[in-house]
Amino acid sequence: MKTVAILGSKGGTGKSSLAHGLAYGAHLLGHDAVMVHTEQRPPVKGSRPYRYLDASANYSLVTSLIRDHADEQGFMVIDGAGNRPHVDLWVTRTVDLVLIPVTNSAEDVRCALNDLSRFADPRVLVLINRWPANRLVRMVLQKYVDQLPESKVLGHVPEVGAMRRFLDDGEWRTPPTKVSNFSRRLFRLVNEALERRGVAPVVVAGDSMVSVPG
Ligand SMILES: Nc1ncnc2c1ncn2[C@@H]1O[C@H](COP(=O)(O)OP(=O)(O)OP(=O)(O)O)[C@@H](O)[C@H]1O
Ligand SMILES: [Mg+2]
Repeated sequence: MKTVAILGSKGGTGKSSLAHGLAYGAHLLGHDAVMVHTEQRPPVKGSRPYRYLDASANYSLVTSLIRDHADEQGFMVIDGAGNRPHVDLWVTRTVDLVLIPVTNSAEDVRCALNDLSRFADPRVLVLINRWPANRLVRMVLQKYVDQLPESKVLGHVPEVGAMRRFLDDGEWRTPPTKVSNFSRRLFRLVNEALERRGVAPVVVAGDSMVSVPG
């Protein structure tokens, strides 16, 4: 499987929402997808249309999951957590691509710049999350984004209120179209970045419905 981690030192940037969205986007486009939970707080309960695995009890599970799925087609997404620099560094060296979300604030940009220089790795890119629809608000926020090196910015994904559905406990319900479009867009951005890096794109369809126990 191709492996992508979504991490960064700043909390609340959308790591978990994007990790779910990316796995869902892969699923919608016909690819087998696994999302790996590593945060200390419990994973969301209930079914998801992609495999959703809990590795929070022991980080070495992440290594074994990557190794065990290495020969499979598809896509593995690792959801990081804020303020875990050593784990982040170790994960970065283990996966094909790392995304650091930034949500249009001076602090997010500062943290992302720190992370980029700390990791100093071509596999690490920034993703602008919650990019507003309003042109005037965008103009204000663009000044933050401009502080990031252009070559390190993968792209923008929008503010979509219903993204909160990914973090809701309970049985899976098909989310609104905006969430599906968001997820497909995110998947395409990531898959193109993997291709540019010379990691072969995922090609085989799959479909699975697995519940996280609890
Ligand atoms: N693109 C988006 N549009 C709208 N809301 C979003 C988007 N991305 C994230 N959010 C919201 O932002 C909040 C924080 O998101 P999330 O929990 O995914 O961040 P996180 O980086 O995983 O946080 P933590 O560091 O605590 O693990 C949630 O309420 C989520 O619904
Ligand atoms: Mg999270």
